[in-house]
Amino acid sequence: MVRSRAVAADYPHGVQVAPSILSADFGRLGAQVQTVLDAGARVIHFDVMDGHFVPPITIGPLVLEGIADQVHAAGGIVDVHLMIEKPAGQIADFASAGADSITFHYEATPHVHYALTKVKEAGCRAGLAINLSTPVEVASLVVDELDLVLCMTINPGWGGQKLVPSSLNKVGQLRSLLPDRIAIEVDGGIDPSTAPRAVSAGARFLVAGSYVFGHDDPAAAFNEIVSAASAA
Ligand code: DX5
Ligand code: ZN
Repeated sequence: MVRSRAVAADYPHGVQVAPSILSADFGRLGAQVQTVLDAGARVIHFDVMDGHFVPPITIGPLVLEGIADQVHAAGGIVDVHLMIEKPAGQIADFASAGADSITFHYEATPHVHYALTKVKEAGCRAGLAINLSTPVEVASLVVDELDLVLCMTINPGWGGQKLVPSSLNKVGQLRSLLPDRIAIEVDGGIDPSTAPRAVSAGARFLVAGSYVFGHDDPAAAFNEIVSAASAA
């Protein structure tokens, strides 16, 4: 089914913890997503890997289609993180499958501006992800096209890694460099101890995979990060 939208859904206000389903149990994905929605999550992070840009292969538009209506029914958005080569060619399919926000990597294409305009044309919020060794200044070259910058706090490809502390300096630099309307997202190694540090540095969206879904009680783990973030 093709879902079209005339105007991109707004991002939810304030600091948001975004559970990454990468660490969910895919045998009961719908139930896992509902658990975090019921706990108050309004941004569901959807990690797409192609076996080229990063070694693992994960999920694509068919799985997105399977959860998008459920997320939207709860008033949430699906935040797609493409860790793939040639992202521009895949954007329409992810938008049709229900993506609200699509973020691709600066390092994955020589055509960053073009791909951002494709995301906008598809009716989605547009994000640019930068790896640990990519300078923050690249975001200012395409500032008019951006709704979000995802600052990787680990090397992309796997959940369960430790946050690289120097990445939070980059979050602070991005916050100074970019207008307030552009949200900053951190991804990797977010837990109750790192979340407040990321918020203090200027992050608004905190992606958390293994801490949430690796826990016996994902709702409680989600709430632990929310409480820690709000104490920042
Ligand atoms: C990894 C993904 C992350 C991942 C984070 O490349 O982009 O979204 O799920 O996992 P944790 O929270 O376990 O570091
Ligand atoms: Zn991610």
